[in-house]
Amino acid sequence: MESLFQTAESGILATAPKEKILSEVTSKTLHKARETVGDPFVENPRMTCREVNVYYGEKKAINNVNIDIARHEVIAMIGPSGCGKSTFLRCLNRMNDTIEGCRVTGDIRLDGMDIHDRNVDVVPLRARVGMVFQKPNPFPKSIFDNVAYGPKIHGLVQNKSELEEIVEASLKKAGLWEEAKDRLNQPGTGLSGGQQQRLCIARAIAVSPEVILMDEPCSALDPIATAKIEELIAELCEHYSIVIVTHSMQQAARVSQRTAYFHLGDLIEVGKTDRIFTNPRHQLTEDYITGRFG
Ligand SMILES: Nc1ncnc2c1ncn2[C@@H]1O[C@H](COP(=O)(O)OP(=O)(O)OP(=O)(O)O)[C@@H](O)[C@H]1O
Ligand SMILES: [Mg+2]
Repeated sequence: MESLFQTAESGILATAPKEKILSEVTSKTLHKARETVGDPFVENPRMTCREVNVYYGEKKAINNVNIDIARHEVIAMIGPSGCGKSTFLRCLNRMNDTIEGCRVTGDIRLDGMDIHDRNVDVVPLRARVGMVFQKPNPFPKSIFDNVAYGPKIHGLVQNKSELEEIVEASLKKAGLWEEAKDRLNQPGTGLSGGQQQRLCIARAIAVSPEVILMDEPCSALDPIATAKIEELIAELCEHYSIVIVTHSMQQAARVSQRTAYFHLGDLIEVGKTDRIFTNPRHQLTEDYITGRFG
């Protein structure tokens, strides 16, 4: 596995011109059927996605994707820049609704509930399927209020002591309590980048989500802060399903149990992370993980 990663990181393009490989990959891409290989489905899923397509205006960015998200799993979404990872992730809590000109079709369910049903309110949906972004984005409020905000607006607490309990428990689960407990009234934006990201995770946790979506949550962080977030992800999946987009194959290997490989809007392959990285079944997956593409 290690050698594959090293190859992927350093790239093996020295052995062949990139244009040649790209054109080979593209022609394969165009002519192969886009049926996902591997194991996109699981028993008793937390979420199901069927025939999901996403368009930005006329342009199709996600092409007929079928996949399940399991309970208590960390699933990594990988693939070259622009392949649609963020777009797909945003389907899962209807964040694409906020993008003008973006249209999602297909059936997406959370515990059997059609998230596009006209009776579904996106505010509680986005609490159940929380999101952590690439760049930590604490509210311009105190550390306490950042975490307390969600439980307050969702009416999850009856009084101040319940609120304090939730804030403390969320900060503990996010691994930030020890660092933050003596400065709860100071602004969240005054924390370090890694601490801010854990604050954003605490904020997501505070409203008892079932799924947490993370779009490259460590890309703005140093290796120590990254290691902390990765440790946290391993702990969090006891309680939640976590879908993480990452450009780092080492990170996908460290944190996830399953990996999904996207390519030009298609979901090419899904499988156990170890298997994907050691024995990919699709040529495009192999090309990507060995550094021949992307
Ligand atoms: N708001 C938007 N309007 C129009 N097109 C968009 C928009 N957002 C994304 N796209 C297009 O959709 C495709 C998928 O983009 P997306 O951001 O989902 O890719 P990604 O895999 O997350 O890439 P990266 O790894 O660079 O973050 C790209 O072709 C992109 O240009
Ligand atoms: Mg992205």
